[in-house]
This record gives sequence, C-alpha cells and structure tokens, in this order.
Amino acid sequence: MTPGQNRTLLVSQIKDGTVIDHITAGEALNVLTILGIAGTTTESLSIATNVASRKEGRKDILKISGRELRKEEVDRIALIAPHATINIIRDYEVVEKKGVTVPPVIKGVVKCPNPGCISNAKEPIESAFEVLGKELRCCYCDWMITKNIASHII
Ligand code: CTP
Repeated sequence: MTPGQNRTLLVSQIKDGTVIDHITAGEALNVLTILGIAGTTTESLSIATNVASRKEGRKDILKISGRELRKEEVDRIALIAPHATINIIRDYEVVEKKGVTVPPVIKGVVKCPNPGCISNAKEPIESAFEVLGKELRCCYCDWMITKNIASHII
C-alpha cells in the first residue's frame, strides 16, 4: 500500500444537521458551551479539534446531527471563532453556508466579573455586554472584559 491509499475522513459526513467549520483551533468546547450544548443534551455530536485546514493552519469542527441551528443562535460564537462557517446539511448535501457576525450586544452568555454588578445580584437580571471589537463592556456597570472572554462564559 502506498502512502495516502488508506486516507479516511477523521469525522464522517452527516445526513442532516449543522456543521460548524473553521472554528479557531482549540475553541470547539467553548463554542459548545456558548451554544448551550452539553454531553447531557440529546444532540449527536462529532467534534474534531486541531485538524489541518486548507485555509488557515489548524481548525476545529463541530457536527451536530438532526438539528439545524439558526444563524442568530450561532452568531454569538463569533466572539471566540470569528472565521467559523455554519453549514446546514440536508440529505448529505450542504444546502446553506453562512459566516458568523458578532452581534452588537450579547445577552446571557458572559458573566460580569464585577461582584457588585446588578447582573450578579439575586434579582433575575440577564447579563448583557456591548461588543466593542474584541472587548466587552457590561451594559449595567461598564466593567470591561479585555481578554480571555471564554473564561467568563456562564
Ligand atoms: N459536511 C458534513 N456532512 C455532509 C456534508 C458536508 O459533515 N453531508 C461537512 C464537510 O466535512 C465540511 C463542511 O461540512 O467540514 C462543509 O462542507 P463543504 O462545503 O462541502 O466543504 P468545503 O468546500 O471544504 O467548505 P469551505 O469552502 O467552507 O471550506
């Protein structure tokens, strides 16, 4: 057998669902957290991390079978994976491909690091951050998150 004859896909094609491709290498698990998908939820998931990409060195890929995610649901991942593409798959074909755009305000995804912020009080106030480039500003107390956004995900 010559080298390359035994090449197979690392993760198989899916029949129906959503493929999130070109995720920044190493961020797949944070993307799942942002999407609220955990091992205990019912979706069938395939996760590939640090795979070689034709476009940009290494990337992560998430395949979610049997569920079509809406662009609005996925846009929030642009914070940590700005080059991700969302592919909707039906009967093995890619029927839709879209990039992600950072929304102007992110609600309920990131916890404010300021213990005195009203969004951390017992009252049911959802966190809200204004997105300013790669930084976030709390809409309630103006606290800035300037790095490592993933570590502040709720
Ligand atoms: N894919 C899949 N199951 C399918 C069809 C596609 O898992 N039935 C995956 C592919 O493996 C790829 C992504 O969906 O990771 C997008 O598929 P496609 O557009 O065919 O690939 P590319 O042309 O390489 O995409 P791009 O141009 O976005 O890099």
